[in-house]
Amino acid sequence: MSDFNILDPAIVSYLGDHSAAPDAVLRDLVERTRAATGGRSRMQVSPDEGALLTLLTRLVGARRAIEVGTFTGYSSICIARGLGDGGRLLCLDVSEDYTAIARDAWLDAGLEDRIELRLGPAIDTLAALAAGDEFGGSDIDLAFVDADKESYAAYYEALLPRVRSGGVILVDNTLWSGRVAAPPSDDDDASTVSLRAFNDAVATDDRVDSFILPVRDGLTLIRIST
Ligand SMILES: C[S@@+](CC[C@H](N)C(=O)[O-])C[C@H]1O[C@@H](n2cnc3c(N)ncnc32)[C@H](O)[C@@H]1O
Repeated sequence: MSDFNILDPAIVSYLGDHSAAPDAVLRDLVERTRAATGGRSRMQVSPDEGALLTLLTRLVGARRAIEVGTFTGYSSICIARGLGDGGRLLCLDVSEDYTAIARDAWLDAGLEDRIELRLGPAIDTLAALAAGDEFGGSDIDLAFVDADKESYAAYYEALLPRVRSGGVILVDNTLWSGRVAAPPSDDDDASTVSLRAFNDAVATDDRVDSFILPVRDGLTLIRIST
């Protein structure tokens, strides 16, 4: 989600002015998403977070990537643009309607050969990845998780054996508008409870090095060390 910010709005604006600006394809996608999905367009990653995704993908030297939660395609375009020569991104989502917009945007961006979409519950698609599938080995360089929060722990465990040593898993919304940092209460929603447990588990997981970047709604950067 792009509208939560820990930072002062003036600083957010300054950061936006000093990160790679979205091009016409991404600007058009923002408009199309708003027109087609209304308030749900808030689920799209923000332009500054998108620029960070491209940068991190390049930093890792990624050629194989998996995205869990594609929506209308903003983050997938940012990741696909950061992949090296011959790079490929597998996108997972349940929504035919949202991803129809993504497919159009991939064509507009000239990325249709780099991105493959598989529809269905992401946990099932990940479990079904078999040896011989181009995304079925243990050589994924980068994964980005931005889907249903209650399943984050399951996505993490499904992705860990697939990501190579030194590769990264990026997980969005891990600050959940700051709610994870509030004292636990009986009124906490399921996503808050799940994200708190997820953050606690990752912070003490000796298979990885991790840090919650206070970017927008929180972006956890996880480097696989096993
Ligand atoms: C926050 S949005 C993703 C936003 C996207 N990263 C972007 O930048 O536009 C979450 C997406 O997760 C998808 N989703 C929710 N539950 C899912 C599940 N169980 N399996 C796969 N996708 C799921 C939704 O359909 C939605 O498109």
